[in-house]
Amino acid sequence: MEAESSTARTRVMGRTPFRGRTRPDAEDSSADGAALMARKAAHKAAFSRGLRGAPPVTSTVPEEKVRLLVIEDSPLDYELLLATLAMQGVGATGVRVETGGELSAALARERWDLVISDHELPGFSSGEALAIVRALPAPPPFIIVSGVIGEETAVDAMRAGADDYLIKGRLARLGTAVRNALAAAQARRDKAEAERLLQLSQQQLANLSQRLQSMLDEERAAIAREIHDDIGGTLTAVRFDIEGLRRHLAPGALPRLERAHSALTEASTAAQRIQQNLRPPSLDAGLAAALEWQVRQYRERHGADVRFEASGAKREVHEAAALAVYRTCQEALTNIAKHAAARSVEVHLHHGAAVVSLEVSDDGRGLDASALLKPGSLGLRGLAERARAAGGGMEIGSGGGRTTLMLWLPRAPAEVAA
Ligand SMILES: Nc1ncnc2c1ncn2[C@@H]1O[C@H](COP(=O)(O)OP(=O)(O)O)[C@@H](O)[C@H]1O
Ligand SMILES: [Mg+2]
Repeated sequence: MEAESSTARTRVMGRTPFRGRTRPDAEDSSADGAALMARKAAHKAAFSRGLRGAPPVTSTVPEEKVRLLVIEDSPLDYELLLATLAMQGVGATGVRVETGGELSAALARERWDLVISDHELPGFSSGEALAIVRALPAPPPFIIVSGVIGEETAVDAMRAGADDYLIKGRLARLGTAVRNALAAAQARRDKAEAERLLQLSQQQLANLSQRLQSMLDEERAAIAREIHDDIGGTLTAVRFDIEGLRRHLAPGALPRLERAHSALTEASTAAQRIQQNLRPPSLDAGLAAALEWQVRQYRERHGADVRFEASGAKREVHEAAALAVYRTCQEALTNIAKHAAARSVEVHLHHGAAVVSLEVSDDGRGLDASALLKPGSLGLRGLAERARAAGGGMEIGSGGGRTTLMLWLPRAPAEVAA
């Protein structure tokens, strides 16, 4: 049986009445399908009753025509289906197919708004048809209209992704079922689109955050360079001058010179510290040494009990990971100083075979999940983003009287920076 085009349908639609006509294809049926045909014929009368019982057209608002693909071996049933839809206010252009091959070809050829399938066809079934349709990347909604579907089969079909099923004898709600299925399909498309846009904006946010992190690093390095070259250089020159003056000054002026000298030493130390905070002291010398320096600084400044421990065989860590560990430790310690009111702090660096990890914990006041959502607080979120970009992750949480920040990163450069 050839598929019928929408023009054929328009012509068919012009012929009335539908009832009482003999099946034009009865003689063409294959022997295999003969028994099925007989069974189907028994449903014909019920089908016609269903058509008579259909509610009158409630809406005459012209809608865009629904592009309908109908899997049906009986041209008459197909006509009745379209006529019922028309009577129920659903304008449709349809094509009828009978076999899996025809169905696949029609699906490949064009886009359909809806597939309506008979349940049992000679050598084919609605289940197989549904499987073919559901395998499409964006499957159209699927309604089963059949005289011979049991409740269990119908439930199975719905589970397999069918949108609805109707009995041929009771097509009063066909129009509603079609409208609902189309609305549900539209809702699925809208949801998929919203999800796509959400993912896109999350990706953009992640990119922006990564870019901000690297700009911060570049900016810090530039300021550190200026402090070193300009301020550091000038301070060294002044130190030489002071040393030179010592020999020429009257003894009474020496205490003032000493004061100037120690102020200068303080300024030099401060410049060095600021510089090191801005740009980590060479991480090549070892991550552990760099973190130890941070811990020492913290202890001197805050007088807290801070312990540092490194474990695992020392292995080389690639630069981006080392910098991420360094910055994370820096932010964790700053946060503890700012927010935690802790008495004891522990910093633990672990070199694993493939992963380098950092754990910073404190016994302070703790935090809950809402802390990470504060609009103006970007420290932890920025670090989590940096860790993710480097192929690792970062988590922070409180429990058992301690707040613990965990960072893990692959030692080798990340292959994906999604
Ligand atoms: N160790 C900690 N103990 C208690 N609260 C913390 C700790 N670390 C972070 N927080 C909480 O998490 C919030 C977010 O931290 P962060 O992203 O670094 O931003 P910021 O430090 O600028 O506020 C902080 O405002 C603070 O409330
Ligand atoms: Mg912070």
